[in-house]
Amino acid sequence: MSQPTPTTTTSSSTPWWKTAAIYQIYPASFKDSNGDGIGDLPGIIGKLDYIQSLGVDAIWLCPMYDSPQHDMGYDISDYEAVYAPYGTVADVETLIAACHERGMRILLDLVINHTSDQHAWFKESRSSKTNPKRNWYIWRPARYDADGTRRPPNNWRSTFGGSAWEWDEETQEYYLHLFAVQQPDLNWELSETRVAIYESAVEFWLRKGIDGFRVDTVNMYSKPLDFPDAPVIDPTLDCQPAYSLYCNGPRIHEFLRELGHILQRYNAMTVGELPHTPRMADVLDYVSAKQKQLSMVFQFDLVDIGFGAGLRYDTSPRNWTLSDLRARVARTQALVDGSTDGWSTTFLENHDQARSVSRFGCDDAVTHPELWERSAKMLAMFVASLSGTLFVYQGQEIGMANAPADWDIEEEYKDLDSLNYYNYVKEHRRDDPGALARAKAALAHLARDHGRMPMQWDATPNAGFTTASAKPWMRVHDNYPTLNVKRQVHRPASVLAFWRELLRVRRANAAVFAEGVFADTDASNEAVFVFEKRAVQQKLVVALNFTADRQVVDLAASLGGTYKTLLKNYEEEPLDALQPYEGRIYLVQ
Ligand code: NOJ
Repeated sequence: MSQPTPTTTTSSSTPWWKTAAIYQIYPASFKDSNGDGIGDLPGIIGKLDYIQSLGVDAIWLCPMYDSPQHDMGYDISDYEAVYAPYGTVADVETLIAACHERGMRILLDLVINHTSDQHAWFKESRSSKTNPKRNWYIWRPARYDADGTRRPPNNWRSTFGGSAWEWDEETQEYYLHLFAVQQPDLNWELSETRVAIYESAVEFWLRKGIDGFRVDTVNMYSKPLDFPDAPVIDPTLDCQPAYSLYCNGPRIHEFLRELGHILQRYNAMTVGELPHTPRMADVLDYVSAKQKQLSMVFQFDLVDIGFGAGLRYDTSPRNWTLSDLRARVARTQALVDGSTDGWSTTFLENHDQARSVSRFGCDDAVTHPELWERSAKMLAMFVASLSGTLFVYQGQEIGMANAPADWDIEEEYKDLDSLNYYNYVKEHRRDDPGALARAKAALAHLARDHGRMPMQWDATPNAGFTTASAKPWMRVHDNYPTLNVKRQVHRPASVLAFWRELLRVRRANAAVFAEGVFADTDASNEAVFVFEKRAVQQKLVVALNFTADRQVVDLAASLGGTYKTLLKNYEEEPLDALQPYEGRIYLVQ
């Protein structure tokens, strides 16, 4: 079916993915080809020339599997089928072939910590205590208080709020779900379950010629079998965050080595999602080349900046400092400085994050177009000049922004994580008069919904995402007449043109961009981030003004010798000042 002949630009000893730029697609919101208001696979296929023109090496497609969509396809009811509004298995085969014809690779999303409660395996497991698939999921009896009140087996909180256990009336036991109630956790302890997962979710698609997987919640498969209570972090909650108990569990590396053997047979690359793993030594266990588990992971140190410690959205918007951000960058860059045999990723956005111009720059493309454009380019320089494999999320290349803060959350937001949090505050914090306003502000700034709004292709109704008469599954941003692909595609000074040039320059100087050794120059500076990247006989000096004010700098000292400017977002380039959101990348030889 597929023609795995992508071009490679690196030497034979460097795997293709180390210097790659990978474009992430969220199928529901990319391009609707049939006017039902939901993006689809033919829509993606029709935009592959556009994607290729960006200069990326591969795409990562978020889940397109059959699913009741409680969590936008991360609740899979059949690994071997495609969600009908997105298309068919044949469409995926066409997409794989079309990527390969263009010399691009394709990754799918591998979601194997849990399935949907509508998966045939769970339906069987739930049907009776003696069903042969009962233990394919994690069932436990209730605990009872002295007065006979029934309680879940422990106090763990699910990621999306409430208990991580759901009572099943029929069979009188609880099942575990670390995410939504409709996402029961698979029992990885049983080799029979693991074999079924490998066959259905993994090899079914590898045999079709895909080039790898983004692996969802990769560190949660091995749970502590005694299921201890989590320490009480927030006494106002009935259930407590328990990440430290179920992330990086006792058998996780054994499971991943087993999975790794299969992936290696297909020469597949993997990028694991690795939340809640602060210690670098623990991260290295997943990505050490010697251990043959994963090619790389997404660490969340950087994008988690400014989130609340207990409940994610319990936070003041814009609650971050540049010194904290640069410390997080330094920590994650340490994995790719050649002192380890590990590898990492660099990214600022994905489908679980708010837009980066809204978090770290100016997102008002309509009334402050110049600041918006400068900050989008500055952030592009920032993320693309860090070492590791670069991931760019759909819409990031045109500087898409968060939904306006006055959108009605109950009406316009669709993500269960945002809505659960909002409803929780509404019901349980009635005695705190400011709580709801704070929750709204935090969601307007950080909710996952912002990254999920329809792609803005042009200035026609619905931004060209779907037909004019259709109702998009999620509201299109009001700024689309100003901010869209069509307006940027032929304008040399656009954010889109800048990204194309940036990716070209990154590729041409991959040794220092993707693999160079990072060093901060002044870790305490709260306005300007100047860092260096070193490779053999070359270094980059990257200077970024993270503020909307002019800042005094002294770049002459860092530059020394002979240098040339590779990229910049202002014409003039004095060495003693940076304009609002100015960025420059110099190559020093
Ligand atoms: C991480 C995914 O990126 C997110 O969207 C999803 O809700 C959870 N894992 C659960 O699968």
